[in-house]
Amino acid sequence: MEITIKKVEKLKDHPEDSKLGFGTHFTDYMFNMDYNPEQGWHNPRIEPYGPMEMDPSTMVLHYGQAIFEGLKAYKTESGDIQLFRPKDNLNRFNRSGNMLCMPEVDEELMLSGLIELLKLEKDWVPSAAGTSLYIRPTLIATDPYIGLRSSNTYRFFIILSPVGAYYPEGFDPVKIWVTRDYVRAVRGGVGTAKTAGNYAASLYATELAQKDGYTQVMWLDGVELKYIEEVGSMNIFFVIGDELITPELNRSILSGVTRDSVIQLAKSWNMNVVERKISIDEVYAAHADGSLKEVFGSGTAAVISPVGNIKFDGEEITIGEGKVGPVAAKLFEELMNIQYGKADDPFNWIVPVK
Ligand code: COI
Repeated sequence: MEITIKKVEKLKDHPEDSKLGFGTHFTDYMFNMDYNPEQGWHNPRIEPYGPMEMDPSTMVLHYGQAIFEGLKAYKTESGDIQLFRPKDNLNRFNRSGNMLCMPEVDEELMLSGLIELLKLEKDWVPSAAGTSLYIRPTLIATDPYIGLRSSNTYRFFIILSPVGAYYPEGFDPVKIWVTRDYVRAVRGGVGTAKTAGNYAASLYATELAQKDGYTQVMWLDGVELKYIEEVGSMNIFFVIGDELITPELNRSILSGVTRDSVIQLAKSWNMNVVERKISIDEVYAAHADGSLKEVFGSGTAAVISPVGNIKFDGEEITIGEGKVGPVAAKLFEELMNIQYGKADDPFNWIVPVK
């Protein structure tokens, strides 16, 4: 399918690389494509980034049939642009869409649309240390209809945002909060899908955590309120004794691409990586007997984010004296080196934009 391009009249000013936070600046262009049952996916186009007109009855606004992805483009020292595991993100996009009865988008077409967009926007990829161009493919239901069913028509789009660190703490350890009063998802629900409603469901408890001085919520499972699932915007890892433990994918946890990269990297260093159920009580017991060495999160936006403190049932524990541990530091460095083209790519994770 041919991708048409409509040029902008006036290009935007770029923010300063060194001052970038997360998610507030958007580039000049976006990719759009529409779906209806008669034509399937059609009219792939790159257009100026701008507001989308919508009927107030548009289904996504009422029933939340919306999925998205998060991936990044990086600038190498020689000025080339590269993507990290885009096919894994685009494949998960379709897995999310399946759970919400949305039509699949051809993964090759999404990738070629993204690459065309990035070629046009390559000057927006920032070059300061730790910065990148965050990519947000999104799919929304567009029928103007307020009865409950899945939509017949959809809009797929990709927007781009130059970003720095996701958390204000940067790579400094974050403080996380655990509660039995609220859950993010339950098995049999849509917890594994990257769908808007999962994030909406996390907001109330996150505000409570923040009022208490914590950055994010670490969710417990929705059935027994006992086993750790994930943290607000990332998957979670624990170094206990000589094991690197992460909750197993149990049909309510998001199957993170960075999570999988951490597992593959750690295994390649002969670390003892275990995917299994891990309860909050086990974490507190490991802290009490001195075997809990590190806790850190992984995610596209968060990269590797060390956790310095956890609060559960009114009791706060400090991990590794609140400092970044060696496993998190090594993973962060190696991941960044691969993403920015400073290290070999033994896993074939990198896709150049050219
Ligand atoms: C990502 O890590 O890319 C995400 O989509 C998380 C989001 C809350 C920023």
